[in-house]
Amino acid sequence: MSSGRTIVVGITGGIAAYKAVNIVRAFVLRGDSVHVVATTAALRFVGKPTLEAISRNPVHTDLYEGVAEVRHVAIGQSADLIVVAPATAHTIAKLACGLADDLLGNTILASTAPLVIAPAMHTEMWNNAATRANVQTLRERGVVVVGPGTGRLTGADSGAGRMEEPDTIVAAALAALAASDLAASDLAASDLAASDLAASDTAAAGVAGNLGDLRGKRIVISAGGTREPLDPVRFLGNRSSGKQGVALAEAAVARGASVVLVAANLEVPAPEQVDLRPVGTAAELDRAMSIAAVDADVVIMAAAVADYRPAEVRPEKIKKDDTGDTLMLTLVRNPDILAGLAAAKKPGQVVIGFAAETESDPDRLLTLGREKVARKGCDYLVLNRVGWTEGFASERNEVRVLDGRGDIVIEASGSKLSVAERILDLLR
Ligand code: C5P
Repeated sequence: MSSGRTIVVGITGGIAAYKAVNIVRAFVLRGDSVHVVATTAALRFVGKPTLEAISRNPVHTDLYEGVAEVRHVAIGQSADLIVVAPATAHTIAKLACGLADDLLGNTILASTAPLVIAPAMHTEMWNNAATRANVQTLRERGVVVVGPGTGRLTGADSGAGRMEEPDTIVAAALAALAASDLAASDLAASDLAASDLAASDTAAAGVAGNLGDLRGKRIVISAGGTREPLDPVRFLGNRSSGKQGVALAEAAVARGASVVLVAANLEVPAPEQVDLRPVGTAAELDRAMSIAAVDADVVIMAAAVADYRPAEVRPEKIKKDDTGDTLMLTLVRNPDILAGLAAAKKPGQVVIGFAAETESDPDRLLTLGREKVARKGCDYLVLNRVGWTEGFASERNEVRVLDGRGDIVIEASGSKLSVAERILDLLR
């Protein structure tokens, strides 16, 4: 990845401002020249000396300082990339309207550099119709919107609105920068893309970010975990939260794809822009996937599907008094949905499966993955380790992606969103 670029980091007034220090630091460590433009509200959350020490440059806030050097446009004109993190609801509204009542607003309006924003706010503010419309406006103008993620917020509450982790924001920002460099170049795009991508770091290889490289693609994604009922109150289930599948859906939508999300008992909110098809059991998921796959370009089976279901679903709650000290359940095999989808694949369609395994030895894990990709007949298999503390509920993931021959084509680790970006890079 090339270094020594001029990057403006805009910091606005949210508690996540303290995390922006790590974003500044990541760019500085790459060798970039980093200029922080903070709002006055941002400086109530993080100190100017901290930002100056880390960025190794003066931090600007005031529109009426440096007037002789026309600072209000000079900073924006010199930028190769502008990253606003955190971006509050207020700042997002200002950007959508093109307001320039402070130095950051002027800097952004005066710049033609790619703009990446990382929203951070409470769930209600993020879900507010005004914020949704403003974010949509910015996306349509080509602004890269990273996150927000879901998780613990400032108070005791948690939900959507948490600023994405700094490494994800930096990765998306570098991706946007690389994409803009490519667009600006007269060189044959394919040659340059290949060489530039080969040199880029893990998550930054999701070059397109929100820039529309999957526009026109119809992608069907299953996410979550199926639940197989035993009686009206109980089920056999698994610990899949749906986070990786939802991250894939989010990233695909941001890159311009039209996405059907077949959602099995998600523990996280589905992105608004998807065609959401909720399901409960493996049989329902099978039906929904078969219908959606008919006209899909890409099918991704990220859901954890129960391999077995109870042979009989009792119409009434199973009572201890009726069963005694032990309860024998008879389970029957569910169809392998992924194998079915791969067998019914249409010409040109790409089918991607997941394999979550508890095997701790990396070589044996790889062997299991190779056997699985051959058995299922899919084009790619995303292989990851799961365990009591790994995988399911985690915000992060570490995967190897095998192609149909069992060769490793991607090794990626980081936030589930950055892993999703890498997987989607296979589809460009
Ligand atoms: O065989 P295993 O469960 O490890 O395979 C995992 C992959 O197969 C995932 O992509 C999952 O969605 C899919 N699967 C399926 N139908 C099943 C079991 C798993 O489609 N009955």
